Amino acid sequence: MNSLSDITTPIQDDLRIFRDFFRDQTDTDIYLLDKIMRYLLRQKGKEIRPTLVFMSARMFGPIDRRSYIAATMIELLHTATLIHDDVVDEADKRRGFLSINKLWKNKAGVLLGDFLLSKGLLIALDNEEYSMLQILSNAVKEMSEGELRQLKTAKLFNMTEERYFQIISEKTASLISACCECGASAATDDPEISAAMKQIGLNIGIAFQIKDDLFDYGLDDVGKPKRNDIQERKVTLPLIKAFEQASYTETLSIRRLMKKRKKSDKDINKIVEFVHDKNGLDNATISMKAFADKALTQLHELPVENGLEDFENLVTYIINRKK
Ligand code: IPE
Ligand code: IPE
Ligand code: MG
Ligand code: MG
Repeated sequence: MNSLSDITTPIQDDLRIFRDFFRDQTDTDIYLLDKIMRYLLRQKGKEIRPTLVFMSARMFGPIDRRSYIAATMIELLHTATLIHDDVVDEADKRRGFLSINKLWKNKAGVLLGDFLLSKGLLIALDNEEYSMLQILSNAVKEMSEGELRQLKTAKLFNMTEERYFQIISEKTASLISACCECGASAATDDPEISAAMKQIGLNIGIAFQIKDDLFDYGLDDVGKPKRNDIQERKVTLPLIKAFEQASYTETLSIRRLMKKRKKSDKDINKIVEFVHDKNGLDNATISMKAFADKALTQLHELPVENGLEDFENLVTYIINRKK
C-alpha cells in the first residue's frame, strides 16, 4: 500500500460514514469556533487511527455503530492533542497549512483543543459506551503524562533509550493501541482478542512514532516543521542510536550543540550530519521495523476471520509512508 487511498472498498465506505459522524460532532453556534473548525475540516489528516479501528473490527466481526463511535471519538481526541501539541512545540505548520496557534494564537489553540477533547469524551457518554470511555480516558491521561515527561526530559537534558521508549509509548502508542483495542472490542466479546489487539496496537504505535521522529532528520517536506525536535532539545531515537556509534569527544561536542536553547542553522546542520554519519537513521529504522514485525507476529497468532491482508498492508504503510 503506497497511500491510504489504496485501501479496499469496505474500509473506504466505513471512512465515508465516519467523516459524516466527525463533521456532526464539530457543529457549534460560537462564531469564532465555527470559523476555526471550518479551517480545520479543510485539512484532512491521514486518518490512520479510524482506519485502524475499522480494520481491527473487521478482522473479528461485523461493523456496527459502535465502530463508528470509536473511530469518531478517537479522531476527535487525536485532533485535540495535535492542536495542543503545536502550542507546546511552538510549531507553525500542520498538515501543510499554518497551525491553529500560528493563525489564531495559543489562546485559541488551547480552547479549541479543549472543545474537541470534550466532544470526544461526550460522544462516548451520549452513546453509553462506558468501556470505550474508560479505555480512551486512560489513553488521554497517558498522552498528557508522556508530553509532560518529554518536556521535563528536554529541560533536564537527560534522555536515555529506555526513557525514549516510555515517552513514545505514552504520548503516541497509547492512542494507537486504543484504536486496535476499541475496534476489536466493538466486533467481538472475546476479552483475550481485545487484550491481544491492545498489545499489537502498542507495538504499531511505537513504530509509528519512530517513523515520525525519522522525518525530523529527513529531507522531504512532510507538512510540518522539520528540525523542530532538534530546536526543542528533543533527543529521539536517530540521535540516541548515533551516540552509540560515536567517540566520547564526538558525543560531548554534539551534546553541547544540542543543549543550546537557540541553535543556528550551522548548529542544526552539524547535528543532522552527525546523525547521518553515525548511521542513526538506519539503526532507528531497524528498531522501527522490529516493532512492526513483532505486531504482525502477534497478529498471526489470533483467529482472524477477514481482512488480515488489509491490516498487514496498513502496518507496512505506517513504516514506509512519506508523511
Ligand atoms: C501526528 O499524527 C502526531 C503523532 C503522533 C506523530 P498523524 O501523522 O497521524 O497526523 P495526521 O492526522 O495524519 O495529520
Ligand atoms: C506526537 O507529538 C504526540 C502527540 C501529538 C500527543 P510530536 O510532537 O512528536 O508530533 P508531531 O511531529 O508534532 O506531529
Ligand atoms: Mg509536535
Ligand atoms: Mg510534541
